[in-house]
Amino acid sequence: MPGEKPKFYLTTPIYYTNGLPHIGHTYTTVVADAIRRYKRMRGYEVVMTTGTDEHGVNVERAAQKAGVPESEYVAKMAVAWKALWDELGIPADEFIRTTDIRHVRTVQWLFKLCKENGYVYKGNYTGQYCIYDNAFVTEAKPGDNCPDCGRPTETVTEENHYFKLSAFQKPLLDFYQKNPTFIQPETRKNEIISFVEGGLKDLSITRTTVRWGIPVPGEEPHVFYVWFDALTAYLSAVGGPEYEKRGMWPADLHLVGKDIIRFHTVYWPAFLMAAMLPVPKQVWAHGWFLMDASKMSKSKGNVVLPRPIANMLGMDAMRYFLMREVVFGQDGNFSYDALVTRYNSDLANGLGNLASRTAAMIEKSFGGKIPKPGPRLPQDDALAKTASEVIGEALDRFEKFEFARSLEAIWSAIAAADKYLTSEQPWAMSDSEADMQRKATILWTTAELLRVVTVLAHPVLPDSTKKVWTLLGQPGTVSGVELDGLRWGQLTTGAQLGKAQSLFPRVDKTEAIERIEAMANEELNPTQPAAPATPAPAAVTGGAAAAPAPAAEKIGIEDFTKVEMRVGQIKTAERIVGADKLLKLTVDIGTEIRQICAGIAQFYEPEKLIGRKVAVVVNLAPRKLRGVESNGMIVAASVGPEGRPVLAGFPDEDVEIGARLK
Ligand code: MSP
Repeated sequence: MPGEKPKFYLTTPIYYTNGLPHIGHTYTTVVADAIRRYKRMRGYEVVMTTGTDEHGVNVERAAQKAGVPESEYVAKMAVAWKALWDELGIPADEFIRTTDIRHVRTVQWLFKLCKENGYVYKGNYTGQYCIYDNAFVTEAKPGDNCPDCGRPTETVTEENHYFKLSAFQKPLLDFYQKNPTFIQPETRKNEIISFVEGGLKDLSITRTTVRWGIPVPGEEPHVFYVWFDALTAYLSAVGGPEYEKRGMWPADLHLVGKDIIRFHTVYWPAFLMAAMLPVPKQVWAHGWFLMDASKMSKSKGNVVLPRPIANMLGMDAMRYFLMREVVFGQDGNFSYDALVTRYNSDLANGLGNLASRTAAMIEKSFGGKIPKPGPRLPQDDALAKTASEVIGEALDRFEKFEFARSLEAIWSAIAAADKYLTSEQPWAMSDSEADMQRKATILWTTAELLRVVTVLAHPVLPDSTKKVWTLLGQPGTVSGVELDGLRWGQLTTGAQLGKAQSLFPRVDKTEAIERIEAMANEELNPTQPAAPATPAPAAVTGGAAAAPAPAAEKIGIEDFTKVEMRVGQIKTAERIVGADKLLKLTVDIGTEIRQICAGIAQFYEPEKLIGRKVAVVVNLAPRKLRGVESNGMIVAASVGPEGRPVLAGFPDEDVEIGARLK
């Protein structure tokens, strides 16, 4: 219909609920989010689906181990997955759980269609089964290990419903030929084509050995095989049997890891063809993020968690690293060292520095208003040309999912602007009319380049580019800019710059890594018992602020004397990068100087605290808050419904430092 936006439907895999998200899962979701933002800026109506894959033996076992019913176990895990994506700013438009009723209906409907069309029959099957991958290992003998995960297989015999996958060898090969971009990247395509050419065996799609699954109607105790169940989630999320009403199916893009490409490019289109439903347009398989050259897993103890990185460096930094460091489609190594190095060089010294120095110079010379440019010199035109070329290249690369190349192009514009400023030296110019005119041209040119870069980088760096957009005082929102109309020269002159905000404060590499690791350690081994599915609190308050507690039972004096409280004096106070609510204090408690973190940063200016006398709990076991050691606790009243901390103190008397509170 004229005037209607074209649609784009993309998905991430739905994640298993027998673990919590690590950086590998975050990678797919981050890329999906960046594509979603990019497509919206290109004028599409976009839906992005992610969710949780909640059935199967693994969940049965995990729930048993946790001593709770499966439904309770998966509900908690699903909440934790969803909450993390929301917290990281990569929420799903549709979050589908395989225990959702809309999904159960869709799976049963798909099966019915396949059966009605003659592609399902009953038979017996005995084989080696890998319970970890939820798959029969056709080539394995009893005693063999699973070739994918290396763990032992189990011999399983059961009556199954078979799906006639063998009937789809030719239709699939024809389909791949007619749709040459269905499987990406190319190398994966060749791999799949030779697999299908090698012959397809029928596939058992129901189980009687598993209890925790979607029942096959009228055939209980049969439940659906997890992959028949899981893949269908993509369709359930956008209407299931009523998919036509929603208008999103077929999917335009399934983003998957290389380990699950066969399920997506062989089984899934075959199921849909059997049901005579539209087949997705593209499956894109990315590589893995490896730790020390091996795949991350909790059992190996080498998982990298997303939250500590986001807390320390910001989510944009993590997004940038994931999409810049590795060629999409290939494996790459994850290292904190490389992450922090890129953060400091590309973000703090690159984009952050260009934005802050440009704004500072416009502030100083033009009262914070974007100047009208004067006559241009060849070097100004050269930078404009570079930026125009970068627009073309960055968009072209992004369109092909060459994210690293796209970012490389954008950062080449930043480097060109840095070089331009270094050679033009606007800071060294006088206030004479000629110099002011020249300065206006230089700063306009730099600000315009910054605007272009901000728009181009927005899908990858959504938060910080929003800040730069506000800083440049540009109208509307950066996400509202249409990429197709982006050209050099559209900077609004005369615009008043917004408030300067810290974009990417430089960090000390060793300290940053230590803190990320400490936070990860806290999350993996919480000191306070927490349910595995409970998301970590948004910020730890250092004990200063707490909600009013109900009246507790009475304690004896001997209990009270266990708490050693003394008068301390604050010597230094500073904010902590990556922990908005905490201040790092050093406090003289008479016998020594202690480092203590306090959750008061939103209510107390650090400078005003120096010299202040406070009550300190000195015999509290040291712990790390947001990765920073805290040795003691500052006492504060918790006021109002938000628990605003008000420091306890000694305003009327000159009390001695170290005096005990009794
Ligand atoms: N539940 C299935 C998918 C069903 S989709 C209909 C599943 N779940 S998973 O949680 O094990 O993995 C989900 C995705 O995360 C996979 O695409 C997998 O490749 C990806 N990753 C898991 N570890 C990874 C890395 N270390 N690096 C990059 N991606 C990795 O499979």
